Amino acid sequence: MVIFFNIYMREKLEKLRASAVVEIQKIKDLKKLDDLELNYFGRKEGKLNLMLKGLKELGQEEKKVIGSVANELKSEIQILIDNKRADLRSIEINEKLSTEWLDVTLPTGFEEKRGHLHPNTIIERELEQIFKSLGFMVADGPELESDYYNFEALNIPPDHPARDMQDTFYIDNKAGKEKLVMRTHTSNVQVRAMQKYGVPIRLIVPGRVFRYEATDASHDIAFRQLEGLMVGENISIANLIAVMKVALKGIFQKEVRVRLRPGYFPFVEPGFEMDMGCLICNGVGCSVCKQVGWLEILGCGLIHPNVLKAGGVDPKKYSGFAFGVGLTRLVMMRYGIEDIRYLNSGDLRFLKQF
Ligand code: PHE
Repeated sequence: MVIFFNIYMREKLEKLRASAVVEIQKIKDLKKLDDLELNYFGRKEGKLNLMLKGLKELGQEEKKVIGSVANELKSEIQILIDNKRADLRSIEINEKLSTEWLDVTLPTGFEEKRGHLHPNTIIERELEQIFKSLGFMVADGPELESDYYNFEALNIPPDHPARDMQDTFYIDNKAGKEKLVMRTHTSNVQVRAMQKYGVPIRLIVPGRVFRYEATDASHDIAFRQLEGLMVGENISIANLIAVMKVALKGIFQKEVRVRLRPGYFPFVEPGFEMDMGCLICNGVGCSVCKQVGWLEILGCGLIHPNVLKAGGVDPKKYSGFAFGVGLTRLVMMRYGIEDIRYLNSGDLRFLKQF
């Protein structure tokens, strides 16, 4: 009886092996293979376990024999399943490789155009860096400005002849009574800055300014300036000259020839104009320097007591210098641009060169 059962079990196991081999061979996808694995080895419903339940009836010895046959069978089928799984996986990968390929050497079809900084911005940032290293803060001011901050607070009353020095865009103020202008210089921030930050103060303000005038190679209706302000105790022209020399050397990476001439600006006393040797013609004379070899790059001076007062600063205790650099002129000198009008043109043939 036992022997028969033994033979019967062996036969059954053998059949199981045969059917597993055939089924595994037929399988074409991983999901079905998982199902098959469960079907054979699942703990509750797996064919092998169901079959082995019959072993309970057997004695110790037989259990051992049949048990080891069953285990061998199990590991044999398991190996078949594992191999099949590896085959199916590599087929899957190969299929992906052959259908979803990407030729990384192909050109993208359109050239990627990258933007870059405008020459104005490059010089502006460099100057900001230099002045920051000297302890100056960088501030901002409005381009549409009241007549007060652009002129009156700077010691230029309404009928002052100095108003003719700068041709102004006056703006209709539909919203209020205040007279408005497009700022003619960044000096509009002088009084604003003193009011806002008090003294001592060291600050620069780069920005756009506007003049109503005929354009030519060295004049445009909109250009850029950089205002500088240093107010404290015992600030003198010597401090101004030292600061300007550091700034110019930083921008041009060499000693630049400069000369100081007396200049008149109502908001400074004494006032000066600083020229630098024209770097486009090296002083020989060209359209940019109007054939004189020198180019006016900044106005400067010691801040007028009336302006300090307007800023809420006591002129008896404090003094300071102010300067306004023609940023646009510096850009032209640095890159050898012979016509200011290129800078606002938006012409890519020009801009691409930087
Ligand atoms: N604001 C003057 C100009 O635009 C320059 C200047 C600034 C002069 C500060 C003196 C002091 O010409």
